[in-house]
Amino acid sequence: MKATAKAHTNIALIKYWGKRDESLILPMNNSLSLTLDGFYTTTTAEFREDLTADRFHLNDRLVDGTEYQRVTAFLDRIRRAAGRPDVFADIHSTNHVPTAAGFASSASGFAALAAAAAKAIGLQVTDPELSMLTRQGSGSACRSIYGGFVEWEKGTKADGSDSYAVPIAPKDHWDLRVAAVVLSSSEKKILSREGMKRTVETSPFYPAWVDNIPDDLAAIKQGISQKDFEKVGEIAEANCLRMHATTLAASPPFSYWHSTTMAIMQAVQDLRVSGVPAFFTIDAGPNVKVLYLPEQEKIIRNTLQEIPGVHDVTVSRPGEGVSYI
Ligand code: ADP
Ligand code: DP6
Ligand code: CO
Repeated sequence: MKATAKAHTNIALIKYWGKRDESLILPMNNSLSLTLDGFYTTTTAEFREDLTADRFHLNDRLVDGTEYQRVTAFLDRIRRAAGRPDVFADIHSTNHVPTAAGFASSASGFAALAAAAAKAIGLQVTDPELSMLTRQGSGSACRSIYGGFVEWEKGTKADGSDSYAVPIAPKDHWDLRVAAVVLSSSEKKILSREGMKRTVETSPFYPAWVDNIPDDLAAIKQGISQKDFEKVGEIAEANCLRMHATTLAASPPFSYWHSTTMAIMQAVQDLRVSGVPAFFTIDAGPNVKVLYLPEQEKIIRNTLQEIPGVHDVTVSRPGEGVSYI
């Protein structure tokens, strides 16, 4: 009853921001992402008859508190689905991605956990079923089941049975690059879960965010299928800015940006003025991802590395979905 799985993080080009059901993790809007080959989690799950509670080790450290609660509540769902409420698990997970810094560790983390735990407990699931299960650990994680471009369909049913990810284009469809610009690897003060909840409940900008999604989604899907880089980049950057604008209007207001975040945004916009196509997107954290085409590799790297406050630039290509080791 032991299995190991590997899952990559993904970067949302159309963001998931806001839940209509917090317990089942049902989103207010569809989202669309690109799975990245540069950041991933490997997780080993072992269910054992002799354990009286779950144990969760993250990066070789035994975890307790809310991070542990989140994992054990998720394992409860797996146990229920498998009809094995009696067995507990020993979980060992390694993040090859900064944890809780806006690099989607919850996406690779829960996708790897879901895949490893389902396999270890003997739960037979299709990919859509695995995505649906994974969604209940962390919303963005349901997209990491697949490689390449992936859409999470919000669904309409109250039980969540039509809310899961769907592959849009495989990783080999388009050789895009995503530079992850690290300015801070420290854990954010407001986790994604808390930030989106506050926004839904208090931001007067939130309804406008939701209204705008269908247009962005239709246009970006067309751009992806036509490999129209300007179109995809423009929509992704605008969608990111709209998401972050909702947080400024929340009560109390907040922002995930640091001053260096804004310096990077400015540098990317300056690159475009000088004729280099590049676009940014930012998740719930201060770090920035820059989208570009392979021929711009050198200028992008050089420009980003020179910005004061930038610690590291890690380049990803489109990555693959969940795999078993
Ligand atoms: P991020 O931007 O890294 O996704 P979130 O606020 O969405 O940040 O989620 C961070 C939380 O995800 C952590 O506090 C932890 O509870 C959970 N997490 C991160 N990595 C793992 C992992 N490998 N296995 C299980 N849970 C994880
Ligand atoms: C800004 O999936 O981390 O990265 O479902 O509460 O675990 P929970 O939140 P999470 O939220 C991700 C928010 C985002 C946008 C995105 O990835 O789509
Ligand atoms: Co997350």
